[in-house]
Amino acid sequence: MDIHVCADQVRARLLTRNKPLSLVRLIYFSECRMERKNSPVLQQLNEILDASERNNAANAITGALIFDAKWFVQLLEGTLDDVWATYKRIEMDPRHDNVRFVEMVTVPSRRFGDWCMGYGERAARHEAVFAPYLYEGRFVPANMSGGMILSMMLDLSSSFVRPSSMEPLAA
Ligand SMILES: Cc1cc2nc3c(=O)[nH]c(=O)nc-3n(C[C@H](O)[C@H](O)[C@H](O)COP(=O)(O)O)c2cc1C
Repeated sequence: MDIHVCADQVRARLLTRNKPLSLVRLIYFSECRMERKNSPVLQQLNEILDASERNNAANAITGALIFDAKWFVQLLEGTLDDVWATYKRIEMDPRHDNVRFVEMVTVPSRRFGDWCMGYGERAARHEAVFAPYLYEGRFVPANMSGGMILSMMLDLSSSFVRPSSMEPLAA
């Protein structure tokens, strides 16, 4: 199944039942394509977070972004219209590809209301938090449901920070 068609279908279904201003949560994951030759990964991550904070504050988008050197996993919450427009813009970004839509659902309230974009990375110091979500010891977003991703992000949210160093990641 073409996952992009699937995301469009989910949006169409939500629009038939809900207003464009309904609060939704969208989750996707993607493969990181930040080329080290362009500029240091740390700088590129900070550029992504700068744009996220700037635009998300303007569009009342909140959420979380997890990075583990290979994968991005992101949760966006806001109105259906704003979340969709943001997702469509992010999808085109060459700093990642193979963007895989996981879910978009209406929600009664925000879970990351304090964060324009909370950031958590799979660094060695957070391995205990990630451990319950690993698949045979590996971080495999394709094997995670939206509920698992939400739960992982909430577990990590107490340690959301700006990327400060690229610690070696666990295998
Ligand atoms: C993994 C990833 C996550 C991103 N998350 C957001 C986001 O939450 N909000 C946002 O506005 N841009 C996000 N971006 C950046 C957008 O793709 C795009 O570069 C940016 O919105 C352009 O903003 P500007 O026109 O203000 O420069 C993300 C990019 C990547 C690669």
